[in-house]
Amino acid sequence: MSNYANDRLALYTFSELISFVQRYTNLQLRYANPLKLADIYFDLFPNEKTTPFWTNPCDDKRHLAIWSTTKHYLCNHAPKILIVGPQKTGTTALYTFLNLNPLFKSARMSREDFEEVQFFNDKHYARGSDWYFSRFAGANANPNEAIYFDKSATYFDDSKVPERASNLLPNARIIMLLVDPADRAYSWYQHMKAHGDIIANGLSFDQLILDARDDISLVENRTGKSNKIEPSTNPFENASSMAAIRQLRNRCIHPGFYAQHLISWLEHYSSRQIIIIDGQWFKYNPAAVMNRLQLLLGIRDPIDYNEILAFDSRKGYFCPLDTLAGNRTRCLGKSKGRKYEPMSEQVRHYLNRLYLSQNRQLAHLLNDIGQPLPTWLDAALDSVAQLASASDRNL
Ligand code: A3P
Repeated sequence: MSNYANDRLALYTFSELISFVQRYTNLQLRYANPLKLADIYFDLFPNEKTTPFWTNPCDDKRHLAIWSTTKHYLCNHAPKILIVGPQKTGTTALYTFLNLNPLFKSARMSREDFEEVQFFNDKHYARGSDWYFSRFAGANANPNEAIYFDKSATYFDDSKVPERASNLLPNARIIMLLVDPADRAYSWYQHMKAHGDIIANGLSFDQLILDARDDISLVENRTGKSNKIEPSTNPFENASSMAAIRQLRNRCIHPGFYAQHLISWLEHYSSRQIIIIDGQWFKYNPAAVMNRLQLLLGIRDPIDYNEILAFDSRKGYFCPLDTLAGNRTRCLGKSKGRKYEPMSEQVRHYLNRLYLSQNRQLAHLLNDIGQPLPTWLDAALDSVAQLASASDRNL
């Protein structure tokens, strides 16, 4: 483990111990595969088995002194901005628009994760910080001027990420895009459906969210007539299918508990480092959002996004203008900004109520840290208040 001399005394003790054993004992030292040794060691001391935190060797000249000199160039490639998500809030559009300013440089594309690096989630974390930084090297940029950013929408709601990220990038700016969590949940469902997910293709959103709310095997009768997913039409009867249904439902709902996730980030980053973007405003006026974002990031030569983004009526979204192709719009691919039926009123009410306490908490938190409330948040809180007073009147 190249832990970059977080503990220099340990290295010193280790080499002194080896020389002692060689000089004063008859023990013979042999090389053994470190992974096998680690297995033996952690079998003996299972409590010591934890994932290390990667810190940045470039931040401490003593650490840098013992780091391979062939890696020193990586110090210029550490990202300064993390766009953390959550998924389905417009993160790809934000990534694309930020890249239109030549100052900003994202990581190289990967065949596995496309534009995302996803380093701070479990999949790649063990690969270490050199692997991470090297994902930003080789981009066509002057590393002294470029502002590297990592857009990985999987970071926002993974509780391990804020601590890992703050250990490696304590000074980073953290950008979050928030849309109404009910819309986010529906967009995720549509995303999974379009990707051929068998559960999303077999259940409607109402079935997934309403019928599966307590226990999928106990389907509620909510409207008076049976809502039951009939056994003959329900290919999801066994336990593993039930688990898959719960998993999909959870992936729809859980990232939308915004207050809970924001609190995790605030435990590791100061509120001044966090920029929260109203995803709805971003959808309807991305140029204004991008211009403001450049200001917040303190960019010296901002570009005017009004000149390079235009509304494409066929797509129904703002898209970059391709100046080389007669100012035609070049929109995001068809997997972004899909067209689908609006969700039912019933499921929207259910989700508004489900998210009510988190949304209220989010409003308090945003007030506390001096950030404006997203437009959708006001609307979501209002709609539940109106429903409650309507049901009071009916009583
Ligand atoms: P839908 O496809 O469900 O409409 P992400 O990139 O984080 O996966 O988010 C995808 C969502 O970005 C889309 O969800 C769409 O609503 C939103 N979006 C915002 N601005 C967009 C733009 N300019 N072009 C396409 N999609 C955009």
